[in-house]
Amino acid sequence: MVALVAPGALVACGSDDAGGNSGGNGGSGGNGGSSGGATALSDIPDGGGLIVDGPDGKALLVRNGNEVKAFNAACTHQGTIVEAPQDGVAVCRNHGSEFDTTTGEATKGPATEPLPEIPVTVEGDQVTFA
Ligand code: FES
Repeated sequence: MVALVAPGALVACGSDDAGGNSGGNGGSGGNGGSSGGATALSDIPDGGGLIVDGPDGKALLVRNGNEVKAFNAACTHQGTIVEAPQDGVAVCRNHGSEFDTTTGEATKGPATEPLPEIPVTVEGDQVTFA
């Protein structure tokens, strides 16, 4: 009934702690995306996108039909996670930067650098980070 989460005990991918409950499996906050590497294609709004846990922090998945692209969701200005896109634009609410989600390019500052693209593969209904 009490969740024990050890501060600083972030274990990214290892599992050498085979002794059972290492805690902290309750999602890391944010926008409620899927955890792990796979996301159902059908969970991503067609023509829109979704913030999920990526290989290196939060990732933005963008879908157009059966085509999916992924970008690191951390704003290239100061690292705030951008919002899921609408009409092909992902907005960072921190200072108002906007990113074109077909290319990742910053279309409105203060950010000037594009969101880095992350390779993904789509197999059936599963989208995984390559
Ligand atoms: S952190 Fe995104 S606009 Fe400043």
